Amino acid sequence: MTSKIHISKGIKGLQEMPLEKGRTFVIIDNNLQHLAEHFKDIPVISLNFSEKEKTLQRVEEISRWLLDEGADRDALIVGIGGGITTDITGFTASIYKRGVRFAFVPTTLLAQVDASIGGKNGVNFLSYKNILGTINQPEWIFICPQLLATLPEDEFKAGISEVLKTFILFDRQMYRTAVDYFKAVRGEDLSGRKYGEAAVALDMGLLTEIVGKCAEYKLGVVERDEFERGERRVLNLGHTFAHSIEKLTDGDISHGFAVSMGMVIAASFAEALGYACGGFPEMLAADLRSVGLPASLQDIPVTAHLKVRDLVDAVKKDKKVTGESIHFILPKGLQEVEDILVPLNKIKEIANDLC
Ligand SMILES: NC(=O)c1ccc[n+]([C@@H]2O[C@H](COP(=O)([O-])OP(=O)(O)OC[C@H]3O[C@@H](n4cnc5c(N)ncnc54)[C@H](O)[C@@H]3O)[C@@H](O)[C@H]2O)c1
Ligand SMILES: [Zn+2]
Repeated sequence: MTSKIHISKGIKGLQEMPLEKGRTFVIIDNNLQHLAEHFKDIPVISLNFSEKEKTLQRVEEISRWLLDEGADRDALIVGIGGGITTDITGFTASIYKRGVRFAFVPTTLLAQVDASIGGKNGVNFLSYKNILGTINQPEWIFICPQLLATLPEDEFKAGISEVLKTFILFDRQMYRTAVDYFKAVRGEDLSGRKYGEAAVALDMGLLTEIVGKCAEYKLGVVERDEFERGERRVLNLGHTFAHSIEKLTDGDISHGFAVSMGMVIAASFAEALGYACGGFPEMLAADLRSVGLPASLQDIPVTAHLKVRDLVDAVKKDKKVTGESIHFILPKGLQEVEDILVPLNKIKEIANDLC
């Protein structure tokens, strides 16, 4: 099944979504509780959602609530919040009564352009992230960039990293538009305003276009390769090194910041392997820094002690390792990305030359 994406400039558009009374059950992140007012006569549960609470216990709690509310096989479960809320909602709906319909209202930039799209859902278990889950598509996704006005600055930036990743893969023009937009937001006078408010106020039409196009590109890839056997792998651009950075900093860095640095490292590898067009890593690094994202390990204190070669050992444990080689998404330039198998020895050799 494929999902339908609805892009709306205002939250009022939610009223037009199919929210059948008696069948719809809404799960909201506590930080977005005010959105409950849009659901008259519809049962709503509001919970804390954090990486620590992305557990089976949350799934049990929600399941118990659904049973208490009398949710049946024809239920529609709507998850409203960031990627943690949508991952848990999708998983719970996928196993409740052997699977009921679900839909999302993503409220972080990361969730609007990435986490809510593609049907990967699940929870953490023991020390493993997203180790229990299913691939199962939401019926619809309601995306409203206006909701981002209250998003904290670092959460916003984590999403910008995934936006730029998507446009590097699929749309060089929108890449430039997005860099210019977020650069302009950074230049705004924030006196008395939050970053999110400024980002939304600058040009709502353009922000909606950026978010909407990004979401559609991801949906397109997922429709062509739902189970990540080929094309979907390109979405991992920057992620191999990002996962190592996240591991080596014990989660003290946001995923988006790690992806930002990971993309530049991947571009440097492409150049070292003779793939990249001259100067691409430097251009990418300058663009990322211009929107407030770190572009090298030295850019932020939490990773300043690391070297690229430190990341390689952690890469070996990455799930994309096949024997002595690793699937690597190499960005050669904008809209020019190669998915190639690189021998680990070669990676080590290059890492030693990079700082
Ligand atoms: N399923 C996928 O394909 C996929 C892809 C990427 C990430 N993920 C998952 O997504 C999760 C991260 O998602 P996230 O970055 O959205 O984090 P999140 O859900 O934790 O949200 C970040 C924080 O922002 C708050 N928040 C959310 N929306 C807000 C708003 N509009 N205003 C103010 N505060 C708001 C939340 O309460 C939370 O404190 C991870 O668990 C990751 O594994 C899943
Ligand atoms: Zn990511």
